[in-house]
Amino acid sequence: MKKSTTLVNAGKAEAREFIDTINPPLHRASTVLFDSYADMLKANKGEFEGVEYGTCGLAAQNAFEAAMVELEGAHGCKAYQSGIAAIAMVLMAYTKQGDHILICDNVYGPTRHFCDGFLSKYGVETDYFPSDSGADIAGYIRENTKLLFLESPGSNTFEIQDIAAVSEICRSKGVVSVIDNTWATPLYFNPFEHGVDVSIQSCTKYITGHSDILLGTVSTNEQSWAALEKCSGIFEAFAAQEDCYQALRGLRTLKVRLKAHEESAFEIAKWLENHEMVESVIHPALESHPQHDLWKQYFKGASGLFAFTLKDEYEDMDHSPFVDNLELFGLGYSWGGYKSLITGGKFRRTNPFGYEGKTIFRLNIGLEDVEDLKADLAQGLERLKG
Ligand SMILES: Cc1ncc(COP(=O)(O)O)c(C=O)c1O
Repeated sequence: MKKSTTLVNAGKAEAREFIDTINPPLHRASTVLFDSYADMLKANKGEFEGVEYGTCGLAAQNAFEAAMVELEGAHGCKAYQSGIAAIAMVLMAYTKQGDHILICDNVYGPTRHFCDGFLSKYGVETDYFPSDSGADIAGYIRENTKLLFLESPGSNTFEIQDIAAVSEICRSKGVVSVIDNTWATPLYFNPFEHGVDVSIQSCTKYITGHSDILLGTVSTNEQSWAALEKCSGIFEAFAAQEDCYQALRGLRTLKVRLKAHEESAFEIAKWLENHEMVESVIHPALESHPQHDLWKQYFKGASGLFAFTLKDEYEDMDHSPFVDNLELFGLGYSWGGYKSLITGGKFRRTNPFGYEGKTIFRLNIGLEDVEDLKADLAQGLERLKG
């Protein structure tokens, strides 16, 4: 055999040998070899049961998706390259020209951009409903409403929808109910137990947990699976298997990490509530949160993301001396990772709790020592004083 042929084939037999490891193998593959011509002919007709191409999902993707199915009690799960890619897939899978969809007003900004900037081009009309809606949602549903999108708590202003009440009405009217469940993770809220059809997770946040991966999943109940599978198949959408591998690894430690995020965030939230410069702390697990009872009704815990506003005397000023001088809080988007982060700005047009026009500082509480984090915020806030 000539060297050029050896270059192409060497090591292949060994690569196909099975070794039993705890974690799934990482394949690098576009082409997947068929065992026989008969299998290829089946694949040509769409009848092959096995994996026929890299986009179908290899060991790590399959293992991660299967783990999410089990964790969420879903019928099926599909991973995508990011949370927003997962959201976009859902919005395309369940809609067509002439449909109307309903989105909660506190939704993650790029979800709104996708509806207004993309779906609108294809004749899908979007309306936004108040972020604290419940059974009153019936008044927003039209003849042609096909999908309703929840996000609870919203990731900037933390309003909660009455999820079971909304999903029950959706079911009675043939509307697919969807939730972005990133804040709670499948550990602290199970959408399917409350009648939701489709659950989205940005695994970029707590599931991977290290601010180094972009990944999203969509899990559905049995009834909603076929449409998602079909749309994903048309796009041949998939997530990188290294990312799925890391996400699977993240699941193994999610419970302990989330507990640590939860405890530190709650402690800092309570401390901020008593801080002389703070007007309100927006954290659903605090009794002062306007929907605290609803939160208790639905959620088994709180994650590490919450927000606060400052008293009026500190509102109309340049907040750079506070934010720029924080030593432990990074200034950047996203959340759910081990490092504490801060964002700030006037995010929302409407808000049921009166935060409109207020600067909202959002904190992702990481895994640093909680006293160090408090001290950092304290010294930063002090710099806003004249
Ligand atoms: C609530 C929520 N959903 C979805 C996303 C999108 O996730 P990704 O960054 O993986 O696209 C984000 C990102 O910040 C988010 O906050």
